[in-house]
Amino acid sequence: MGFTLWFTGLSGAGKSTLSMHVYLEIRRRMLKAELLDGDLIRTNFSSELGFSREHRDLNVRRIGFISHLLNKNGVNSVVAAIAPFEEARQQNRTLLDNYVEIWCKCPLEVVESRDVKGLYARARAGEIKAFTGITSPYEEPVGADIVCETDKETVTVSVRNILEWLEDRDFLP
Ligand code: PPS
Repeated sequence: MGFTLWFTGLSGAGKSTLSMHVYLEIRRRMLKAELLDGDLIRTNFSSELGFSREHRDLNVRRIGFISHLLNKNGVNSVVAAIAPFEEARQQNRTLLDNYVEIWCKCPLEVVESRDVKGLYARARAGEIKAFTGITSPYEEPVGADIVCETDKETVTVSVRNILEWLEDRDFLP
């Protein structure tokens, strides 16, 4: 049975960066893994979905189900998706035997000031509706297994903390 690492957090909080590093390290240790990044999943699998609560929850449930199929077949799943609603995250925790929630915690002011993709400016200008943190809520995780304070720690430190957590619980050799 594989495990699922779910990186949740605001846009620009570091989900894609951290998940990619951890995914590569899992593969380096000769374990099977797939990386499910929100943007790619939306392009290839959920292209009809928008960003209403209903559509986000459906997207998050779909990713949970794909992860369930992968895990059942011994493939670890590394997910980077905002998953802004606690209830949907809890549903995946219930569905998945080995669900590990990693909160990429970064204040809105910081992700907005960086605005790597320019999406926050567009959201403030009213060009993007229901944007997480601006016009759509992000419910902070209440039971995250690992919290990475991405405005305070380097990528190297966050990745090391995650790998140590996984090693301590025998998820990783
Ligand atoms: S969710 O809420 O889990 O279904 O979102 P997710 O599938 O992770 O998709 C988030 C990426 O979509 C882009 N994008 C938006 N994000 C938030 N709100 C709105 N309205 C929105 N519109 C487009 C954005 O690039 C997100 O990617 P990340 O990597 O989080 O920046």
